[in-house]
Amino acid sequence: MNWRRLFRRSAEADLTPELRARIQASFDEASRNEEHFPSTIDPRIYHVKVIREHLGPLRGKRVLDVGCGKGRFARVFREQEPEAEIWGLDISEEMLRFVPPEIQTRAGTMTKLPFADAFFDGAYATESLEHAVEIEQAVAEMCRVVKPGGRIAIIDKNAEQWGRLETPEWERWFTRKELERMLKRHCREVASRFISYWEDVEPDGLFIIWLAVK
Ligand SMILES: C[S@@+](CC[C@H](N)C(=O)[O-])C[C@H]1O[C@@H](n2cnc3c(N)ncnc32)[C@H](O)[C@@H]1O
Repeated sequence: MNWRRLFRRSAEADLTPELRARIQASFDEASRNEEHFPSTIDPRIYHVKVIREHLGPLRGKRVLDVGCGKGRFARVFREQEPEAEIWGLDISEEMLRFVPPEIQTRAGTMTKLPFADAFFDGAYATESLEHAVEIEQAVAEMCRVVKPGGRIAIIDKNAEQWGRLETPEWERWFTRKELERMLKRHCREVASRFISYWEDVEPDGLFIIWLAVK
């Protein structure tokens, strides 16, 4: 009996083929809504800045945007450092159509990344882990594809604020401790804090960033 798998299953839903298809179809459809799913982001927004700072110098580095959507973060990082090799992975091919051609893309699920172990120098996920359903598996995959010493950043929403926004039935938010525990299974340094869109605005508790070093 695989007790770890049994335990994980009891704690989480499964990303069944039916659910995966539903999530994919929902984001394929959402890709048409540029207002709610924009393809660009203001590089001054703190979410962009704090990930960039954590990743460190990007020249010659290979970095994965997990659940990249239209690649709004990847686009900024690539513009800031044209010698970085930025990859974007998303479950929705319709979202990926908006990603600029300088960014390499793969369609797939973050719960089974189509990359070799330690292929990337760093990886980040912004508001995508909340849709992964098999959360522990997605975190393990993100860590697997990053080299030892590589950097990982996750931005998502705070479970203690659940209900503030409308959410699809598969979405999950996280407490700081919950994701810290998952990351600590794979990473030697893990920290988290509340953030807001602007560095000089006091965080209201909705967004959390988790920063890890493998
Ligand atoms: C709210 S959007 C965020 C997109 C992007 N990270 C951003 O900040 O603009 C969530 C994204 O996660 C993707 N997604 C959902 N489930 C996924 C999965 N299992 N594997 C990969 N991507 C997934 C969706 O297609 C969507 O593009």
